[in-house]
Amino acid sequence: MKLLSWHDVGTHPAWRSGDVADLRPAAVHREGHPRGAVSLPVAAEARPDGSDLAAVFAAALPAALLPPRHLPLLLVGDEPGLVAAAVRWLRDRGRGWIDGAVLQAQDAPAGDWVTGEGDRVLWRPNAFLAAHADLLPGPDAGPAIDFGCGGGREAVWLAGRGYEVTAVDHLPDALALCERLACGRGVAVRTLCRDLTAAGAAPAGPWALALALRFLHRPLLAALPELLAPGGVAVVRTFRFAPDVALLPKRRYCLEAGELLEFFPASRFDILAHVEDRDPDGRPAAGVVARLRVNRDS
Ligand SMILES: C[S@@+](CC[C@H](N)C(=O)[O-])C[C@H]1O[C@@H](n2cnc3c(N)ncnc32)[C@H](O)[C@@H]1O
Repeated sequence: MKLLSWHDVGTHPAWRSGDVADLRPAAVHREGHPRGAVSLPVAAEARPDGSDLAAVFAAALPAALLPPRHLPLLLVGDEPGLVAAAVRWLRDRGRGWIDGAVLQAQDAPAGDWVTGEGDRVLWRPNAFLAAHADLLPGPDAGPAIDFGCGGGREAVWLAGRGYEVTAVDHLPDALALCERLACGRGVAVRTLCRDLTAAGAAPAGPWALALALRFLHRPLLAALPELLAPGGVAVVRTFRFAPDVALLPKRRYCLEAGELLEFFPASRFDILAHVEDRDPDGRPAAGVVARLRVNRDS
């Protein structure tokens, strides 16, 4: 595999977008690293001749810490074999637009080698949620919940904006990642391990903000009027079935065309936004931002 040099790196799209992960130990990163690179150290025992690289890469480079798969990513390090192995490992997991580089301080163009830690991350919150941030109630309106939170990007993003957040998933590993992300950002997220398909498993709230992103359990959507506080907002965004599209979940885990709004009847909700479009990675999706009406009679 061809690793990139400083000469190639300057024009690489990941360099320009700042999606660069430094695989070297954190202390080495602090002493000096390519400008904009984020420290994602691969454990010291991971050497190209090591026996269990996959486990080490899985711990160091989980998808929740990386940019969305459709965006470019550049890995940098000081061991060509290790960088190449990490690139291959991520390519094997479906990340197409990824390259590796071994970059030395002494060769760096002026200003492209910097010291310190930095506070950037490579992951992004769900694009639909971020695009509709101005429709969300403020953090003072009450607590927020993220159903099927996965690695916790959205929960941590909300916590960083001042919300008191509960993140629910049935996978302990997902919740551990969520806690790792929260710790990395210096915020608190309450994690709850629950199978949300079990009767009564959804924490009662009332919630000022409820997210269900790429997690579709129809009875949960139907229960939102009971889970949300009056004036509370739900943000739901998930895959929409299309017969000709590969890489979608099974049909029962996809919304049908027009289905999402059925969970948000006009008698109970104000629809602040609704789209049937495609995710940034090209997959069909539907999304809604809906506010539970305040019942003046009660
Ligand atoms: C595709 S991921 C989406 C994660 C996150 N919401 C996001 O948008 O990146 C779906 C998540 O739902 C969780 N999940 C699936 N079934 C669940 C269940 N029955 N109860 C709780 N969580 C569940 C999975 O573990 C996974 O983390």
